[in-house]
Amino acid sequence: MRYLTFALPKGRLAKKVLHMLEKQGITCSEIYTDTRKLIFVNEELKLKFFMAKTSDVPTYVEYGAADIGVVGKDTILEEKRNLYEVVDLGFGKCDMVVAGPKEMKEQLKYNNSIRVATKYPNIAKDYFYNKKNQKVEIIKLNGSVELAPLVGLAEVIVDIVETGTTLKENGLVVLEKIVPVSARMVVNRVSMKMESERINKIIKGLRELS
Ligand code: PRP
Repeated sequence: MRYLTFALPKGRLAKKVLHMLEKQGITCSEIYTDTRKLIFVNEELKLKFFMAKTSDVPTYVEYGAADIGVVGKDTILEEKRNLYEVVDLGFGKCDMVVAGPKEMKEQLKYNNSIRVATKYPNIAKDYFYNKKNQKVEIIKLNGSVELAPLVGLAEVIVDIVETGTTLKENGLVVLEKIVPVSARMVVNRVSMKMESERINKIIKGLRELS
């Protein structure tokens, strides 16, 4: 039996993902040890795990470096990788939104000369160019996107909102909702065929849990 490899996201989803896999009997005690090791192995179940930067998880899965990945729908939409999205895991729920000062609500409806700051340029382009037919300027940032309207870099942002605290504490509001987001299980296209029995068992178990 060959190893099945999981690419798991670092950051805010990490704990929930490990907890969910544990409920399925998919365990790896080594992952909790304080170490700089990158890959963890469960020899008994022939499983390997690695934690990757969230936005890289779909890349590892598309190329078959991991058979299975867990990642947010926001990253799946942004990265546009060729893979199967098989289970909505029902946690990590948040919304992809357009946000900004409340005064921008009206201008956002028709104005084209708006700058939009975001960590998600593909999602922002798809929303403004294809869905709204608005030729806004999109500015890529790598984090703390809420800063952009406060310092005059952009009028609005496209970002995820979970509790709404970051927006509220910075005097910003949700202006338009783009798409709901949650954690998903994704599978490499070849692995889905070659390892269908083992992978389908995992999918079935996770669907029952979520
Ligand atoms: C995310 C997101 C928002 C914030 C939303 O950022 O980009 O900034 O969380 O969460 P809230 O609605 O619960 O306040 P993250 O913490 O991942 O850091 P980053 O801004 O540096 O990317």
